[in-house]
Amino acid sequence: MKITYYGHACFEVEMKQGRILFDPFISANGLAAHIDISKIEVDAILVSHGHGDHIADAETIARQSNATVISNFEVASWLGSKGLKFHTMNHGGQWKFSFGTVKYVQAVHTSSLPDGSYGGNPGGFVVWDDAQCLYFAGDTALTTDMQLIPITCPKLDVAILPIGDNFTMGYRDATIAAEFIQCNRIIGCHYDTFGYIKIDHEAAKKAFDDKGKELILLPIGESLVV
Ligand code: NI
Ligand code: MN
Repeated sequence: MKITYYGHACFEVEMKQGRILFDPFISANGLAAHIDISKIEVDAILVSHGHGDHIADAETIARQSNATVISNFEVASWLGSKGLKFHTMNHGGQWKFSFGTVKYVQAVHTSSLPDGSYGGNPGGFVVWDDAQCLYFAGDTALTTDMQLIPITCPKLDVAILPIGDNFTMGYRDATIAAEFIQCNRIIGCHYDTFGYIKIDHEAAKKAFDDKGKELILLPIGESLVV
């Protein structure tokens, strides 16, 4: 799979059978000013929870792509009420889509929608096809529920974990999350965008390196082929 970083917690993933986008927040992110959202064409948009820094560009990109929005019941229904294609899920459930299988898993965080609507409970996604498996944690604290992922899903090839602290786990806790999910290749997200989540990149990489794991911090607009 080819994973492209669009800043904050937004990633496009090209799989064998389609393209998906996680948590679109690009046009309001000054660090991602060089990303042209009008060029993004995906089959599905996976939204971890209702906060603006994960959903801001979901409607625009879903409309231009005719993409299906996949999220928890409340967030997907809210986007669906705007006339978008949508698929509702809830925690512990999985479904086979055209691009691969998606399992919606626990996250410890909150979820409200930009207009104040109830956003249900936040989650993360495990996505796989017959070749590879990816975990996108969403905004979350470190939680022992992560230990269920290697038990209930295919072996992970790569995981995207928040590392910025304050609103989510920081990189030290994320090294423990990497142990819980039994994954050695981690891509960091949810750091540097705002003042509260600016991190020391070298210290974060060293924390993972000390545990024999790799932390990848992609420049915005860059891709990684896994
Ligand atoms: Ni959030
Ligand atoms: Mn967030």
